[in-house]
Amino acid sequence: MPFLRSPTRFIIHYVAARPWIFLVLGLLVAGASLSSIGVQYAMKLLIDAMTGGVRARGTVYAALAVFLCLVMLESLLQRMAALTLGHATVSSGVGIRLDMVEYLTGHQMPFFQNQRAGSLGHRISGLAGIFGAIAHRLLQEVTPPLITFVGAMLIFVTIDVAMAAILGAVFIAVTATLILLGLRGHVHHKAFAEHAGTVGGELIDLIGNIWVVKAFAARDRELERLEGFLDEEASAQRRGWFFVERMRGLHDIALAILVGGTLIWAIGRWSTGAISTGDVVIISTMTFRILHGSRDLAMALIDTSQQFSYLRETLDIIGVPQTLNDAPDAARLRVGEGTVELANVTFGYDPHEPVIHDLTLTIPAGQKVGIVGSSGAGKSSLLQLIQRFHDPQIGHIAIDGQRIDQVTQESLRDTIAVVPQEVLLFHRSVMDNIRFARPDASDADVHRAAEAAGCDEFIRRLAHGYDSIVGERGANLSGGQRQRIGIARAFLKNARVVLLDEATSALDSESELEVQNGLDALIRNRTVIAVAHRLSTIVGFDRVIVVDRGRIVEDGPPQQLLRQKGGAFRQLWVMQVEGLERSSSYPMDFAAAGERLRSASMERGRQLRGAIMNAWSNVAERDPR
Ligand SMILES: Nc1ncnc2c1ncn2[C@@H]1O[C@H](COP(=O)(O)OP(=O)(O)OP(=O)(O)O)[C@@H](O)[C@H]1O
Ligand SMILES: [Mg+2]
Repeated sequence: MPFLRSPTRFIIHYVAARPWIFLVLGLLVAGASLSSIGVQYAMKLLIDAMTGGVRARGTVYAALAVFLCLVMLESLLQRMAALTLGHATVSSGVGIRLDMVEYLTGHQMPFFQNQRAGSLGHRISGLAGIFGAIAHRLLQEVTPPLITFVGAMLIFVTIDVAMAAILGAVFIAVTATLILLGLRGHVHHKAFAEHAGTVGGELIDLIGNIWVVKAFAARDRELERLEGFLDEEASAQRRGWFFVERMRGLHDIALAILVGGTLIWAIGRWSTGAISTGDVVIISTMTFRILHGSRDLAMALIDTSQQFSYLRETLDIIGVPQTLNDAPDAARLRVGEGTVELANVTFGYDPHEPVIHDLTLTIPAGQKVGIVGSSGAGKSSLLQLIQRFHDPQIGHIAIDGQRIDQVTQESLRDTIAVVPQEVLLFHRSVMDNIRFARPDASDADVHRAAEAAGCDEFIRRLAHGYDSIVGERGANLSGGQRQRIGIARAFLKNARVVLLDEATSALDSESELEVQNGLDALIRNRTVIAVAHRLSTIVGFDRVIVVDRGRIVEDGPPQQLLRQKGGAFRQLWVMQVEGLERSSSYPMDFAAAGERLRSASMERGRQLRGAIMNAWSNVAERDPR
């Protein structure tokens, strides 16, 4: 969106989006200002008629009628302008926020990882407000004083050209001085805005991490810390405020001197009969008005410049180009059987430090592949690459023979169901959270998915069943419950390719067994890539890949890998068996360890008993305690 490049283009874009309404608005504002000048002129006519030598009642009443009509016209136009402005800014505000959210959500994932979500939300809401504020300032506070000034000058010229020139120069000088002073005071406002931003960010951080604050008994400490930030913000605010008041005071003094001087001069001219009483009245009121207007004008201009800098700052953050766009000729992914291919993929979050090195992998449709490896090996990164949350620096990824960087991201993600390491939930009902995967799913579909994922029972036990609100990020649910809802969601999506990233990591063995049955159903007849720390979840898979520092170090059916003496998978397996063994109340009890493993997946336990025995006997040989 090119109009996000500069604040001026941004404003012009949204004004041009509703050209008629802003045109009418401009005309109403101009009309109201002209009427207000007319009111002053009618007053002069009225006074002149009343003080004229010949007391012509007719002229007096005619002037009075004009005066009253103009007063009413001015209020009418002002009210209409205010209503139109309100309407224009409210509807622009909706459009701006929708456009911004659309653009923002198109950014690549790292963009969000480097920004505070709360502050992005505030900025987007703020943009609508800024647009409204700038429109209001320009139309209601900058345009009227300028029109009044021009009108006053025209009237003054008819009375006395020299006076008009002097007052015009004074107006320009006063306004310019105020703007210059105001811009010097800009540092105070900027400092205040920065401090206020910091305080806002600190508050969001504090409330977002409330668990840590409570768990570490840190409320007092945190309050003290916050007080420090608030104090700094308060003094910045005070400095800005004093500055503005000083400026206002100076302006008041200048106003008194100038209006007083003009009046003395006008009365002097009146006493010699050079100008009429009405002229004196209009000179004094218009002088007062334009000089008063000069302050409003200066203030409005300073404020507008501040709004512009805030707008620029926000556009600099949100308006950065989107780095991961659909190719211009991107087609929808034509879903086939679900073959996944990675060809010579090298990827690093920092291009100079790859976390995946020249990785080539072909997963035939319907195959179930487990990915194991130590923490930080690059397993989650691999899954993210398949979902195209990042593009690899070298190589490419394809699904059913179509490169994923050449199809639309929407269609790619429609093809893939994911259960991530940490299931994220909306602050909505359980029903809405599961249905998020497929908005057109019926209640019965959602229930079936929940049953299959083993979460129907606990959901029904919640206070409001499927209508229970899960709390912010699912805070009202346990980790295991969130994970099962995540699985139900993936279920409902009914996608060809399923990615599981530690989908059962938050479950105890009993619920894992329950979920395992759900997962078994989820992965049937689909291509599955599952990252697992608990090897029991993948021993029944067709294939296991061991990843170490971004490279595949082992690849094969699990039973075969288990038989490889000194192999990486076998070592991991042995370590887990030992871990289970240590945590068991029967140390060195082979049967207990075997039993626990079996219970983790009874069916697979049966199939794989041979493999386990083999692995275990190897440990026993190695470590004859
Ligand atoms: N968003 C990110 N920005 C920069 N570096 C990242 C990012 N995410 C992960 N990394 C780094 O990439 C490497 C691989 O991380 P990844 O999350 O893929 O590991 P993993 O194998 O899934 O580990 P775990 O088993 O702990 O989940 C790590 O060194 C990690 O620090
Ligand atoms: Mg991970």
